Amino acid sequence: MTTDQKRSRVVAVVGSPRPDGNTVTVVKTVLQELEGRQIDTELLFLPDYRVYPCEGHDTCGSLRSCPLEDDMPLLLEKVYGADGAIFASPVYYENVTAQLKAFMDRTVWQYNHERWLEPRVIGLVAVAYETGLDDTIAALRRFIGLSTQREIPVEVLTGLAYELGDAAGNADLMAAARDLAGRLAGHLSSGD
Ligand SMILES: Cc1cc2nc3c(=O)[nH]c(=O)nc-3n(C[C@H](O)[C@H](O)[C@H](O)COP(=O)(O)O)c2cc1C
Repeated sequence: MTTDQKRSRVVAVVGSPRPDGNTVTVVKTVLQELEGRQIDTELLFLPDYRVYPCEGHDTCGSLRSCPLEDDMPLLLEKVYGADGAIFASPVYYENVTAQLKAFMDRTVWQYNHERWLEPRVIGLVAVAYETGLDDTIAALRRFIGLSTQREIPVEVLTGLAYELGDAAGNADLMAAARDLAGRLAGHLSSGD
């Protein structure tokens, strides 16, 4: 890559409530590996932002903007403007966490205004103690399916971890995180 080429940017939305938790650990490892490959990254830890739950206004589709005043416009600008997007969640009751679900629901204004998510690649990450990984990834895939209008490559990482520090101590999971970064970077450099 020549220095005047624009660097790609990958933004990760993390729905864990634990800043030092397993999901953050996995995602940080992915982003670190991407940075090492000359890709800019940003981790959006949802508890750092105000994301109010959708209030289901019937008029959403005709509103000039969502009436809820919180940090969603900032988050949407970052995520919808990125070359790559990662959505990551611990498994809670075999699904995404409430934090990530609130974010997903609030993208409905984009949906109602046909503003589609169009990164060049999407990464999905789910971390569980034991069960629900497939259901959680399926929920994320449905969200992606409703948020896009074209085929976007999706790369997935699931891992098992329970207590704080479990992911960091799991060499296989950390290697899988670096592998996910390699796959994401591959899509960004191949231009597909
Ligand atoms: C409310 C709650 C619900 C959970 N539900 C599940 C579950 O359905 N299946 C599972 O294997 N682990 C479940 N877990 C365990 C978490 O997925 C696991 O501890 C994960 O590593 C937490 O990720 P974090 O450290 O990023 O927060 C649950 C934990 C909590 C607090």
